[in-house]
Amino acid sequence: MQSEMAGRLYHVLDSHGFERPLLDELCELTTRIRNIAKMPGGARELQMLLPEARAMLYFPQPSTRTFLSFNNACHILGIRTSEIRDPATSSEVKGESFDDSIRTFSSYVDVIIMRTPEAGYAARAAALMGRIPRPVPIINAGSGKDQHPTQALLDIYTLERSFAERGGIDGKVIAMMGDLRRGRTVRSLCGLMRNYRDVHLVLVAPPAFAMEEDVKQRLRAHGTRFTETSRLSEVLPEIDALYVTRMQTEWDTEGESHGMDYAQFSINPRNLPQLKHDAIIMHPLPRGPEIDPAVDDDPRAVYWRQERNGMWMRVAILVKIFRLEDRIAELASGPAGRG
Ligand code: NCD
Repeated sequence: MQSEMAGRLYHVLDSHGFERPLLDELCELTTRIRNIAKMPGGARELQMLLPEARAMLYFPQPSTRTFLSFNNACHILGIRTSEIRDPATSSEVKGESFDDSIRTFSSYVDVIIMRTPEAGYAARAAALMGRIPRPVPIINAGSGKDQHPTQALLDIYTLERSFAERGGIDGKVIAMMGDLRRGRTVRSLCGLMRNYRDVHLVLVAPPAFAMEEDVKQRLRAHGTRFTETSRLSEVLPEIDALYVTRMQTEWDTEGESHGMDYAQFSINPRNLPQLKHDAIIMHPLPRGPEIDPAVDDDPRAVYWRQERNGMWMRVAILVKIFRLEDRIAELASGPAGRG
């Protein structure tokens, strides 16, 4: 859960604690920031917001988009960045503990953005912050198979924008497909769904990779309607959004995903006609064979837009953590507002 007091944001650890007003505010903030960046001189104004701030990007687990989008999000706000991507280049090889490494980062920077192969490490870093004299906010950029809260936030933004003319996410049928058992993006996104009215989730997965019980338990507890199936073709005509995910083969212990029939859990130009004309296709990326590149040309494919949205949502998250939303409101009101 993230620390949230009276609409404030500090640590971002998982998707569970987010309430609708904060989600709506983050989406509005994201759009506002994009608009400022497009205004003459706007990018410069944004860069002057946090010139003294420093961020640590600690990414011992592989990443392309999340790393680059956070790195660029920091630079958009003038935040300087340091990074460790390969633990072989840090004192971890000398046996330094995780806690000591995190404490060291906090000595030099104002926010730690981290991705780890282990679940729960962002929460552990946040707990450590509660015990040291100079704590800094921790942002979870992916923790094992468990959580990826900032991806869920950019997914919410993409859904809301895509359905802006149709009442937003409320009332929509949203299918999540693929390796739901080991996919942290879908686990985190499910955690936000209780904030939207009359959403129907359709969980499409091979039985061996079905959504874990803890997520389903939460959905039930919050009264979010969901159904499970392993047949995409049966639900395809009903859905408003199809969130496709790849097989998370890196977690295989006995080659369990080998021999999987991807065809049943993939989308290609042949099954596109079954999809509603105004539905959208999302994917956190990177993709495997589950989305045929020929689908990219279909106007319903929004995953490249989703990827770009990620950077702007991450700017908004940083703005909220550093409590600059009022400055953003001033900048958005145009040159007169720029004092
Ligand atoms: C996702 C991740 O790392 O969990 N990628 C991302 O951050 N966009 C999805 C994935 O790797 O399948």
